[in-house]
Amino acid sequence: MAEATQEPQVEQIPVGPSPAGTEAQTGAPALAGEVERALADVVGGASLAGKRALVTGGASGLGAACARALAAQGAYVIVADRDGAGAAAVAADVGGEAWEVDLLDTSALESLKLQVDILINNAGIQTISSIVDFEPAAFRRIITLMLEAPFLLIRAALPHMYEQNYGRIINMSSVHGLRASSFKSAYVAAKHGLEGLSKVTAREGGAHGVTSNCVNPGYVRTPLVEGQIADQARIHGIPAEEVLTEVMLAKNAIKRLVEPEEIANLVAWLASDQAAMVTGSSYGMDGGWSA
Ligand SMILES: NC(=O)c1ccc[n+]([C@@H]2O[C@H](COP(=O)([O-])OP(=O)(O)OC[C@H]3O[C@@H](n4cnc5c(N)ncnc54)[C@H](O)[C@@H]3O)[C@@H](O)[C@H]2O)c1
Repeated sequence: MAEATQEPQVEQIPVGPSPAGTEAQTGAPALAGEVERALADVVGGASLAGKRALVTGGASGLGAACARALAAQGAYVIVADRDGAGAAAVAADVGGEAWEVDLLDTSALESLKLQVDILINNAGIQTISSIVDFEPAAFRRIITLMLEAPFLLIRAALPHMYEQNYGRIINMSSVHGLRASSFKSAYVAAKHGLEGLSKVTAREGGAHGVTSNCVNPGYVRTPLVEGQIADQARIHGIPAEEVLTEVMLAKNAIKRLVEPEEIANLVAWLASDQAAMVTGSSYGMDGGWSA
């Protein structure tokens, strides 16, 4: 596939053109990814063949699932994460490339120019605390990673997208982009801000062939959620084994976690030509949490 041989077109990033762990060093998995994508082209009519996608937080959970779903549709995927080894592993798996980057270093993103067709703003973290006890530095960290960095990446990607009159921005929001929960002030504020940023991007980008949408998962089976269980138990004063039913799934109509692949399929559809008229929208997949 032609796109696999292209030079990386992420400019002004602190990595060289052949980051450690990409196909040069891990030939077999990269080849497997190539074969998978070639097969998808032939069998499924890959809708994203020839497209370059950047997925932040692509080393784990939802980001890794998105990288796989986009690659399965033929996209060449750049896996961006502060976890360089994790990003390299996913990149090798999908025949793409890794970009080891700490998105909290926003000054490095201010002069960035991205040559991608699809941008998935997905990297995220969580801190659980009452507002009274919330560390200001922890609040700022979440807003920086989950609102300011997406703004800077969109800003870096739009000129190329405008030039080619095509682009897809997909922002991994949350049910917490639309609703609030106690003890998540920074996360809820960042996700509500991301919803606004996404809509402004949709308004400005519409005339240039660029769509921008949010995806709003309920609780998904990922390390981010597994890591919350102890904190949720402590702050709600309940045993850890009750957190899933009493806190996380309490508002769900369908009492199970969302699987990462379910969200990734929605993301791949939003990136496709079938979703060309979908913009400024927020797509829930929360088992009825927000109903
Ligand atoms: N898991 C859920 O239940 C759920 C629900 C709704 C929304 N989301 C959102 O989905 C996104 C992904 O969450 P996940 O559950 O897959 O989490 P995860 O912890 O599995 O993955 C997050 C990834 O982001 C990366 N990351 C964190 N800080 C970074 C930084 N400073 N620079 C670069 N990369 C960084 C991590 O290394 C990790 O690979 C987040 O935005 C989260 O808010 C998750």
